[in-house]
Amino acid sequence: MTTPAPGPKFEHAFHRSAERHERIWIFCVVTMLALLAIGTMFYAVYDYGVVTKGTSFHADPTAPAREAAFRDGRVIRTGPNAYSVYMVGHLWMWSPSPIHVKQGAAITFYVTSTDVLHGFEVQGTTINLTAVPGIVGAVTYSFSHPGTYHIICNEFCGIEHQAMIGRIIVDPAARA
Ligand code: CUA
Repeated sequence: MTTPAPGPKFEHAFHRSAERHERIWIFCVVTMLALLAIGTMFYAVYDYGVVTKGTSFHADPTAPAREAAFRDGRVIRTGPNAYSVYMVGHLWMWSPSPIHVKQGAAITFYVTSTDVLHGFEVQGTTINLTAVPGIVGAVTYSFSHPGTYHIICNEFCGIEHQAMIGRIIVDPAARA
């Protein structure tokens, strides 16, 4: 086979060959992007939990009792001056909210999420933990001053992330 001499015939052959290679590379790129997109969606849905898996506390042996407490969004008095708060973060609110607790009481917050990661931060305190679907985080805190404390979500969780605010109202301890 002879190489075509420069001229219209050569250019035609050149373009045909170039177009064929372009098509092959376009096919490769589109295939890679499609696999990446499918893989990302698969990861998001089945692994990361972007789609709600429901509230299953597989990491916690006391799961069933806690599940009920979380479902009802409860503030439970556990002692003369102690409370347990079962707080659930979900798109885009905290439940229960607002809640009332007493100044000076030992309050244990059990925190989880039913959908994506949320950040459970209470302004003006050292409370800062991540609400993770399927896992319960716990922190105990005592509010020394009465007032309204805001729970802010400090983990980007979607379009209404900045509006995901809860309230803890700390009532003054009764004077003796
Ligand atoms: Cu919830 Cu950001």
